[in-house]
Amino acid sequence: MILVTGATGHLGGSVIRHLLKRVPADQISALVRDEAKAIKLKEYGIAIRVGDYHHPASLSAAFRNVDKILLVSTNDYNDRLSQHKNVIDAAAANGVGHLVYTGVSIKNPTASVLHGHMKDHFLTEDYLKASGMNYTFMRHNLYAEMIPFYLGNQVLEKGIVFPAGEGRIPFALRDEMGEANANILTSRGHENRSYNIANETAWSFQDMADILSALAGKEVSYTSLGHEDYIDSLKAAGLPELRIRAASLFSAAMRNGDFTLPGNELESLLGRKPTGLDTYLQRAYFGG
Ligand SMILES: NC(=O)c1ccc[n+]([C@@H]2O[C@H](COP(=O)([O-])OP(=O)(O)OC[C@H]3O[C@@H](n4cnc5c(N)ncnc54)[C@H](OP(=O)(O)O)[C@@H]3O)[C@@H](O)[C@H]2O)c1
Repeated sequence: MILVTGATGHLGGSVIRHLLKRVPADQISALVRDEAKAIKLKEYGIAIRVGDYHHPASLSAAFRNVDKILLVSTNDYNDRLSQHKNVIDAAAANGVGHLVYTGVSIKNPTASVLHGHMKDHFLTEDYLKASGMNYTFMRHNLYAEMIPFYLGNQVLEKGIVFPAGEGRIPFALRDEMGEANANILTSRGHENRSYNIANETAWSFQDMADILSALAGKEVSYTSLGHEDYIDSLKAAGLPELRIRAASLFSAAMRNGDFTLPGNELESLLGRKPTGLDTYLQRAYFGG
């Protein structure tokens, strides 16, 4: 039995859909914290197990008779490490043989401005390694699907205004990352290995502007705003403090090249080239 956590979310949901193409539904279970959100998952015929990363007893009950778990990292940053530890402890106590963890792909993590934000991923990996279970670290680079969040609503009219300098990012589709995770869970030989889940090319925001210009048939400019000006613009737009802080750290890390870790492991896991930025931008901004 394979159990996927975060199954009501984007990545976990994608993993489940790809698992269903590979194994019968009765070999798949989904951890959800709110059963009301699991209607679609129930329609697939998979087992729904209710549990919350904050509540160890719920996890212990949910992980009975499970062989492999995909732990999707929590999006609740308050006590991320202790939530992940609860999952790992409950898995180990239930005799789960293999736990796959969705971490982050970032260069020189301890030197990155994002270290404080990301260190729980690495501490989770250390904790999982020490648990004695077989592990796989799926280190994800940035989702292409986050690009509209960085570019804002009027990119085709006003151009890209973002403080990423010439930093390059090997954006990949979240759904293809989900597919790669499903492949890891249903094939052999991934125990105690780490994978860099990223595209084979890393693109700058100028590349993005060039692609959008070609697609739009008009110039879409790129202005790399000064960092302080960017923060001021987010404040003026009324974004909450936490969002501004995250945007500030992520854009600084992009500018510093912390995400510039392209690679071919995603391609190997998919058995084909991952979707490129041009195709993603075509679909996201022009449909089709
Ligand atoms: N690489 C990137 O660009 C990038 C971008 C954003 C996030 N991330 C990371 O990748 C993870 C997956 O991304 P995503 O897009 O799938 O996020 P998402 O759509 O927000 O999904 C997060 C999932 O985690 C579940 N969850 C949160 N807290 C939980 C708890 N206490 N107990 C049990 N389940 C809990 C959520 O359940 P509910 O449905 O009940 O809320 C949801 O199913 C995120 O959580 C975040 O750590 C990566």
